[in-house]
Amino acid sequence: MASSLERRVAIDAARAAGHLLKSQFRASHRIAFKDTSIDLVTEMDARAEELIVGRLSSAFPDDTILAEERGSAAGRSARRWIVDPLDGTTNYAHGLPIFSVSIALEVERRVALGVAYDPTLDELYVAERGRGATVNDQPLAVSTTASLEQSLLTTGFPYDIRETRRTNLAQYAAFAMRSRGVRRLGSAVLDLAWVASGWLDGFWELRLGPWDAAAGSLLVEEAGGRVTNVTGGALDLDAPAVVASNGRIHDAMLAVLRQTRET
Ligand code: IPD
Ligand code: CA
Ligand code: CA
Repeated sequence: MASSLERRVAIDAARAAGHLLKSQFRASHRIAFKDTSIDLVTEMDARAEELIVGRLSSAFPDDTILAEERGSAAGRSARRWIVDPLDGTTNYAHGLPIFSVSIALEVERRVALGVAYDPTLDELYVAERGRGATVNDQPLAVSTTASLEQSLLTTGFPYDIRETRRTNLAQYAAFAMRSRGVRRLGSAVLDLAWVASGWLDGFWELRLGPWDAAAGSLLVEEAGGRVTNVTGGALDLDAPAVVASNGRIHDAMLAVLRQTRET
């Protein structure tokens, strides 16, 4: 379990990074590209990451820190911090106000603490394993929507969509025909936080990074939802394929994913 010190340091770092991102939102940014021509990174990803990693490493020098832009710095303890300093970089670079900061603490390979901060709405999400999830200190609970047909879903597509066969487009089409609608918000962390909030009923994405899924998956679980991989097994945080839902529609989501794999 995470102590109040871990909780406080993670919350303060997420808020500080979120305020930094907000202070430069819609300013002009230096945009570079990672592996593909649609995988953007800005100087703000690096600045937010530097702030967070600086605080975590000075408070917890023995812990491993895995941060999206700089990779992993190994520590001696059995604990690993997992950081997405700016989730929703494409939105941010285009001036679309849907982005967030995510910090999780994994202890012996299980996420114990998840923190996400949405600077646009000033919403701070916190989950501790076994102790529930909150947004701005109010308890979170997933929706009670009972069927896929009544559900509002969200998903995302991979940056190598032009190169890979696993585009997620067949799955998108299948869910669009079965649900009330499928959103593509551009921030997997907020997709998960908003499933935890009950505004969205389910989320899936075929390939994410550990930093996209770590904090958000605990938010959904601690809000009473269910999180698995796309075949219904345990989530592998090192190569996450994610299905997250209010629990009630989970088996129906897995069935749609199974059907699209078979066709
Ligand atoms: C991305 C966003 C997006 C998801 C991508 C992620 P980034 O993270 O979460 O919604 O579809 O798979 O990589 O690059 O903005 O941190
Ligand atoms: Ca991300
Ligand atoms: Ca990111």
